[in-house]
Amino acid sequence: MQTRYTPAGVVSDLSGRIQRDSEGRLQHLITLEGLSRDELNALLDLAQFYVRAVGDLPARDQSLAGHTVANLFFEPSTRTRVSFELAARRLGAEVVNLDMQSSSRVKGETVLDTIYTLQAMHADILVMRDAEPGLPAFVARQVAPHVCILNAGEAHLSHPTQGLLDALTIRQARSDFSQLRVLIAGDIAHSRVARSAWQALTTLGIGELRIAAPEDLMPPEGEFARAVRFSDIDAAIEGVDVIMALRIQRERIIHSQIPDEATYHRTFGITEERLRRAHPDVIVMHPGPMNRDVEIASEVADGPRSMIQQQVTNGVAVRMAVLATIVRNVQARRQF
Ligand code: CP
Repeated sequence: MQTRYTPAGVVSDLSGRIQRDSEGRLQHLITLEGLSRDELNALLDLAQFYVRAVGDLPARDQSLAGHTVANLFFEPSTRTRVSFELAARRLGAEVVNLDMQSSSRVKGETVLDTIYTLQAMHADILVMRDAEPGLPAFVARQVAPHVCILNAGEAHLSHPTQGLLDALTIRQARSDFSQLRVLIAGDIAHSRVARSAWQALTTLGIGELRIAAPEDLMPPEGEFARAVRFSDIDAAIEGVDVIMALRIQRERIIHSQIPDEATYHRTFGITEERLRRAHPDVIVMHPGPMNRDVEIASEVADGPRSMIQQQVTNGVAVRMAVLATIVRNVQARRQF
């Protein structure tokens, strides 16, 4: 079992066992580690069912009727927080968004006391983002048996719904994963997006996964098993079918040397010129938020190969699929 100790001394299970109930069903979603290919495909199939083109009416049903979803984002977010809220509302749930800046957290209340307070108000699905590694697993151990914890971004470690929406976006564009060469480029070391994408794509049988980063932004050896590592972006991009560009996570970097933005763009940015080295049908992705003309050129982000807006659309559908699946599993447990 892979474990780590948070600064608070909490042991966090990164193998994914904590997120399952005694029957092995997903009760929480904390990591994509340990999910089988069938489980991933079932979530992606359900997400696809919920996808609608922008301009059409969004999908709706009552899978979450009677449930209350609380969004607790201790780090900033636009896409993940709003899409969890829309997903929950479109499935018939009540939704509360805790504004951390005006919550009693600023008076010294602990995360756990905040969680217990929401639980006492019948919030039964808690969506959490935090900079503390291990916090979602720790909270999952403390909450009442009917409460579900959904990880909406955990330090540099895990962003499972982002991994799912990235996999869905690739699947919509290219069906045979075994033939694909995927490049994740940028600040891999500090990226929970890269880790969750790697977990999803390796389980789904991606043909070849490459990671490319400047030396200071490369993850330690031992992580990203079987990924091919590049320090030269021009070599990394050669022949790839999918490029996932990543923002430099300045908020997580303490000691590394980061080049200035213009130098980074020149030496590592995804530009139209560099795209000519990739497969002619390459698609380009970015989880957002983007730093335009730093890790990705604006003309690429807004160009015909870009799937960035489709990723955002898929994010709502994926979060609907996760919410519906988790609630269905809790209901199945209650029937026994
Ligand atoms: N991709 C992502 O997590 O974006 P937000 O930080 O806006 O939620």
